[in-house]
Amino acid sequence: MILQASRLAKSFGATQALRGAGLTIDAGEIVAVMGPSGSGKSTLLHCLSGILQPDGGTVTYRGVDLGGLSDRDRSALRRDDFGFVFQFGQLVPELTCLENVALPLRLGGTGRRTAEATATVWLERLEVEEAGRQQPGDVSGGQAQRVAIARALIHDPAIIFADEPTGALDTLQGEKVMQLLSSTVRGSGAALVLVTHEPRVAAYSDREVIVRDGRTADAANAA
Ligand SMILES: Nc1ncnc2c1ncn2[C@@H]1O[C@H](COP(=O)(O)OP(=O)(O)O)[C@@H](O)[C@H]1O
Ligand SMILES: [Mg+2]
Repeated sequence: MILQASRLAKSFGATQALRGAGLTIDAGEIVAVMGPSGSGKSTLLHCLSGILQPDGGTVTYRGVDLGGLSDRDRSALRRDDFGFVFQFGQLVPELTCLENVALPLRLGGTGRRTAEATATVWLERLEVEEAGRQQPGDVSGGQAQRVAIARALIHDPAIIFADEPTGALDTLQGEKVMQLLSSTVRGSGAALVLVTHEPRVAAYSDREVIVRDGRTADAANAA
């Protein structure tokens, strides 16, 4: 197991978004986090990935308690070991798609030529090499998500966190994006935590976890 969360609690004012959620993720597995709108899926993902600090409970990554890390160390962990794909809007609009994909390597100190050569390979893998010279605003939603996936994977993270990655796409584009996301994640050996409320998307996972009113249950035990 590389990631373990237990008894997570998180409130926003009077709203208890999480009330005792927990789950474990094994290396290389694809886990779908499902549940109705407002049930706490995004909050759970943000706590698991160190974006949000829970009010209670623990998140342990490879034996390290995220809550015990300094902000600086937690940011470094997110940058080096985690990859993120959101519903939309995560690309930097001023950069070309190629520059967006190269960005994580550039931030890690890799030279421009090497970073962009690697980014080109990733764009080809996601079948979106034609978007490389364009800016995110000039490509389709499906292309933008494939660019975002390339960017999430380029630094070889151990875990990808994806929050409704097909939520802004039509069915056909969503299928294409899920096929490419799941096959590239399988090829890289990364784990994928996939938030979705669409059974069609969850079908790409090894296992489903259901979130309801801020609590989690394995799909197998949820009925
Ligand atoms: N930043 C926030 N400020 C206030 N309330 C929030 C915030 N984020 C989430 N919530 C509330 O917490 C609950 C769970 O939200 P969320 O985790 O986004 O659910 P989901 O992703 O399952 O739709 C909802 O009631 C939502 O309104
Ligand atoms: Mg959400």
